[in-house]
Amino acid sequence: MRTYFPVEELARDERFSKVNMRERMADPRTLAGDSATTTRKSRGNNNRLVPSRRDATDAARALMHGIFVGEIQALEGAGRTCHDFAVSNVPGTGPSGADSDPTTGNTVPFALKLDMARQAWDEARHVEISVKLSDWMGTEIGQFAENTVLFEAACSTDPVLRLAGVNRALEGLAIDVFTTMKDFGDLAGDPYLEFCEDWMLADEVTHVKMGSDWLRKVTENDPDRRKKALDFQNVVDKLFSYGGTRSDSEESPIGLARRFRELAGFSDAEVADIAAVSLAALDERKSSVAKMRDQAVTEMADQLGTA
Ligand SMILES: [Fe+2]
Ligand SMILES: [Fe+2]
Repeated sequence: MRTYFPVEELARDERFSKVNMRERMADPRTLAGDSATTTRKSRGNNNRLVPSRRDATDAARALMHGIFVGEIQALEGAGRTCHDFAVSNVPGTGPSGADSDPTTGNTVPFALKLDMARQAWDEARHVEISVKLSDWMGTEIGQFAENTVLFEAACSTDPVLRLAGVNRALEGLAIDVFTTMKDFGDLAGDPYLEFCEDWMLADEVTHVKMGSDWLRKVTENDPDRRKKALDFQNVVDKLFSYGGTRSDSEESPIGLARRFRELAGFSDAEVADIAAVSLAALDERKSSVAKMRDQAVTEMADQLGTA
């Protein structure tokens, strides 16, 4: 079997449609789509995903479908990391194997592969849970499009970058998303949604912790490699700040799950950094929306003036 599988060749049947991040965010049914912007006016500055939101049904369904395709890609990414690298002999982490990957020279400890195998098993279960929850919420597979950035972050030839980009940045985001969905289920009086999200959340905290622990262990004597990995994590964090969809502010639909991030091995400084990046993304989005509004008002006034 070949190593380093290209994103274009992921197995998907005709129900799935692939879109880029910009197209996905433009879907008016999503948390940050046009309808969210419209309904926000009636809620003041509170934009959290709660059942009382006028667009809650579509927004929650869109989020659940996003979780479902994210779980598929997380399964594919963890599986690739089990397969793509040769085993190295890091003392105290299990048996040794081949000296290095012939393509990149990168290797991983055997125990890291075991953790990735455990993660693949968890993600497969999450795919099943998410597809059943989607069905429970009245959504069909393919009703929303798929963005494959998660798998793309799992395509790096350096396994440490995969851990930083996928396990820490994206699974960190999953912690925030699952916490919001769990609270949504609680408020909506839906025990199935609440408990399923709670169980998946427990797994995600473990996956992020694996990423945090292995990143530290593997780069213990290689500060440059650690810095490169953390820089990559920052890029992915920024990309997935979704124009402020996730932040501490109640103007964001998804909150920052600080306590669970702590349990997953994030330091206080790291959580503070993510909070700052998320708030900056929210401000960026707000100012671009204000700019577009001003421009529309000016154009309308010009048209009225010339009529
Ligand atoms: Fe998962
Ligand atoms: Fe996960």
